[in-house]
Formats: sequence, structure tokens, C-alpha cells
Amino acid sequence: MENIIELKDIHVSFEGEVILDHFNLNIKDKEFVTFLGPSGCGKTTTLRTIAGFIQPSQGKVLFEGKDITALPPHKRQVNTVFQRYALFPHYNVYDNIAFGLRISKTDEKEIAERVSEMLKLVNLKGFEKRNVTSLSGGQQQRVAIARALINNPKVLLLDEPLGALDLKLRKGMQTELKRIQRQMGITFIYVTHDQEEALTMSDTVVVMKDGLIQQIGTPEDIYNEPRNPFVADFIGESNIIEGLMLRDLLVKFEGVEFPCVDKGFGENKPVDVVVRPEDIEITEPKEGMLCGTVESVTFKGVHYEMMVRSENYLWKIHSITYKEIGTRVAMEIIPEYIHIMAKEV
Ligand SMILES: Nc1ncnc2c1ncn2[C@@H]1O[C@H](COP(=O)(O)OP(=O)(O)OP(=O)(O)O)[C@@H](O)[C@H]1O
Ligand SMILES: [Mg+2]
Repeated sequence: MENIIELKDIHVSFEGEVILDHFNLNIKDKEFVTFLGPSGCGKTTTLRTIAGFIQPSQGKVLFEGKDITALPPHKRQVNTVFQRYALFPHYNVYDNIAFGLRISKTDEKEIAERVSEMLKLVNLKGFEKRNVTSLSGGQQQRVAIARALINNPKVLLLDEPLGALDLKLRKGMQTELKRIQRQMGITFIYVTHDQEEALTMSDTVVVMKDGLIQQIGTPEDIYNEPRNPFVADFIGESNIIEGLMLRDLLVKFEGVEFPCVDKGFGENKPVDVVVRPEDIEITEPKEGMLCGTVESVTFKGVHYEMMVRSENYLWKIHSITYKEIGTRVAMEIIPEYIHIMAKEV
């Protein structure tokens, strides 16, 4: 697969504050890529740099291998959908969607055909005459997507487009967006700070923190093999505990030795150990096992969330077996569920 967008050694600062520095990223054609990271980490800045609204003071933006750094936004084959849909309130649905083609002086017959295709794509057939202010949040977002796609961009940038919707509607729109991306066969670059959203929708997730890429990978990679404690913690819930890699395939934490599947760390090396709450099995305590006392139990619908205190660590555990507060339990973890990370220096 070819790269459609390449960011090369990008530098962006605002009022002397460095936001992106030596930022490099390749985005493949027809991929659904998500920028994921906490507020202020530079997601929108990166998106606006791709769109051309921000001029980097250093570095290049390439589109299909060509340098577009100096190209203004409207000349790029890229469109943006914002969190606030920025629809024209005095226009109806049809005129909002037709806007981009009217600017480019397309003839009305072709506009009518394209608008009708777009309405079908976003499931809003029959809404042509409706005033956009009379639509629900989800419907307005569909209009915004149709409006951004009518010019046939090769890349669609979406900056937290579902942020204003309630949870149920968000879920529905996530599936819709994924379908639209497949159907159009174009690249979507999506920004969110919601890890679940990133994991469900993306081919590739780019995890960011303080303007730096922490990890790039498939949702499975990012979830199962987080590269550092930040990623582990940001992507879903995790227990992160200090351990000692005794040798290949054997790690020790909380005074107990655990066989694991990692190697190549050396002998007696301090490491961080990551275990997901759903990967710990509660059993009867026995000599030599990792044991602790249940401190709290909360019913979460599909499982109980238990906090279990061992000597130096409070474990979060998701389990379908209920144990009363104060119960002494053992925690079993199979080798595949123990993730070892080198200590950050
Ligand atoms: N035009 C601007 N002038 C000054 N500072 C800015 C400007 N735009 C962004 N910043 C700063 O740059 C940093 C990164 O902002 P950015 O909007 O890219 O973050 P983000 O990851 O999109 O965050 P959020 O999830 O809150 O939208 C922030 O500290 C922000 O205050
Ligand atoms: Mg933002």
C-alpha cells in the first residue's frame, strides 16, 4: 500500500511553545487512521497541518509523494469534518451539501446527481428540503459528512466528529462512518481521545502524548503489546507493577515468580509488568501464589470489578465470580497475559 500522506520532520510552535517537533508520520492510502491521545497532545494541530490551515515552520507535508507544504487548504485533495459541524443554518440540507460544488461552479444537473448520491450514502434520503437547524445532532453530523465528501476528496479529516453526540448515537455513527469509509474507498484520518472509539474503528492507531508519537499499530497491537506504561494505561484499564525480569521467560513481582512469554531483557533487569483486569483469575489461596485481600466489589453488568490488595499493589480485577470484601484470594495469571515493558529511562 502506498503512502498518501507523509509528514516529514514537522515543527510547529505557537507563541514560542513547541507543539510538534521532528514529527514524522506516514499514512497509507485507503486506511482508517486514528490519532488518539489526551487533551492538548497535538492531535488537532497535526490534522490542521495536513489540511493546510497551519504552516509548519520546518518540515514538509507530502501528498502522494509530492510536496504540498505551500499549497493552500482549498487546493489540497483533503476535506475536514469538525466537531461543531459548522453547517449553514439558513440553508436547507440540499444547499448545505451542494455548497462545495457550487463554489467550483459545477452545473446544477450534476450537483443534483451528486447530492442525491451523498444523501443515499449517509442515509438521509428525503431530507433535502429540511432546514438543518431542525435536524438531530446525528442527522446534522451526517449532513456535515456528506458536505465534506461531495468534492470527492482523497482524504477526509475528522476532528472528534462524534464528540457532541450521546453514547448510543456515537456507537451507531461509529459503525456508519466505518461503512462510509469502506464504500468511498478513501483515507479517513480520525481524531479522538476515546480509546474504545479508536480501537473499534481504526486500521491503524497513532497514540500521542505531548506532541510525540508513543506507538503506531493495529488496535490489537496497541492493546495487546503496549510499548510503554503510558500506552498501556491510556488504552483500556491496566495493572502496571514494577517487576524483575529474572531471565528469559521468567519474571518476578510481589515476591512471586511468573512464567511469561517475553525474552531478551537480560538477567535481573527491572521492568514494568502490565496485566489487564480481565486477565487475572481469582482462585483459592495456596502457598507460593500471589495473594491479596478483596477491598471493594462493584457490579458492572457483565462482570464484577474487584480491587484486591497484595503486599505492595492494589489490583483491579474483572471477574464473573463474586468474592466478599475481606476475602483472601489468590490471583492467577497465565504467561500470555503478562506483558513486560522495559523501564523507561
Ligand atoms: N492557535 C493556537 N495558539 C496557541 N496555542 C495553540 C493554538 N492551537 C493549539 N494550541 C496549543 O497547542 C497544544 C496542542 O493543541 P491541540 O489543539 O493540537 O491539542 P488536541 O490534542 O487536539 O487536544 P484536544 O483533545 O483538547 O482537542 C495545546 O497546548 C494548545 O493550547
Ligand atoms: Mg483537538
